[in-house]
Amino acid sequence: MREQLLAAEKVQAIDWRDGALHLLDQRVLPFEQSWHVCRSAAAVAEAIRLMVVRGAPAIGISAAYAVVLGARARVAAGGDWRAALEADFQVLAESRPTAVNLFWALNRMRERMARIKEGEDPVALLESEALGIHQSDREANLTMAQIGVDLIRKHQGNRQNLLTHCNAGALATGGFGTALGVIRAAYLEGLVERIYVDETRPWLQGSRLTAWELAGEGIPVSLNVDSAAAHLMKTRGITWVIVGADRIAANGDVANKIGTYQLAVNAMHHGVRFMVVAPSSTIDMALESGDDIPIEERDASELLELNGQRVAAGVDALNPVFDVTPADLVDFIVTEKGVVERPDAAKMARLMCRKRLH
Ligand code: MRU
Repeated sequence: MREQLLAAEKVQAIDWRDGALHLLDQRVLPFEQSWHVCRSAAAVAEAIRLMVVRGAPAIGISAAYAVVLGARARVAAGGDWRAALEADFQVLAESRPTAVNLFWALNRMRERMARIKEGEDPVALLESEALGIHQSDREANLTMAQIGVDLIRKHQGNRQNLLTHCNAGALATGGFGTALGVIRAAYLEGLVERIYVDETRPWLQGSRLTAWELAGEGIPVSLNVDSAAAHLMKTRGITWVIVGADRIAANGDVANKIGTYQLAVNAMHHGVRFMVVAPSSTIDMALESGDDIPIEERDASELLELNGQRVAAGVDALNPVFDVTPADLVDFIVTEKGVVERPDAAKMARLMCRKRLH
């Protein structure tokens, strides 16, 4: 199946080429396919903040390349480049707060930087670290897709109606996706009847990005408003909800796009299985529970306006863009290290001690 899965890798959102980071601009998809070129760490931080690039693993990979851009400029400027690079680490760490992959990637780059010896080429070594982060995310997607499909087959058999939220696909990762990787693989294995995609208010990752990715491959997909999910679970024979994650705490609580929590509650009520698919770089063992996960709040204009036109009454609006699903509503967490069924702190700790499966 690995070869089939690799052949299904059609969309790529992050391209490191000619010494610059090229990002497929997710603000304008699916109507325009335009590449946003970043030549400095600050430009990448801004692209993350503005959601030119989004999705937890993609943010982490972009930040790793940003450190390379930063190092190149700091080394060229002469003097203490390591001290100067701290300013770039800082700006990148402030770009978005919830997806831990950003901080995980920055830590990896910082640790690599610390091991660089006198006389070595820092830019080349950091570049090779960033390429390694990118490639290993791609590999993790493949491993998780295989594990996720095995779970679907084992628990429910043929022709599933699956529901997903937000975009956890090629656009959000270095490969062909976490949740969408499992969904793509299930389709290739003949296990899929239809994919139901929540539009994902207010930024429309579902209707603009996920629907575009799936429809582009001829996978049967229907779009629905987020609030239709419970009704669809009741009336359309949905058997699995499959989502990605931005940060998973040590007890298995899962932060993901706002609306995921209510999906999990509804899934439990309707006997629908709930699968979270995320690389181990999304797991934050330093946080005891989801209560400690910082939840990003974005500008109220994302709710109050559509295409720059005011659509709401003159009131304040709350715009938390992630929520936390308690571990006891999660059936499976799929990672490249293996699966945790009905997660808790002990099971998460055991998972993190394992090696990657590929
Ligand atoms: O605000 P976004 O679009 O960055 O949020 C993305 C999500 O919530 C995804 O589900 C998550 O990052 C997993 S992507 C593989």
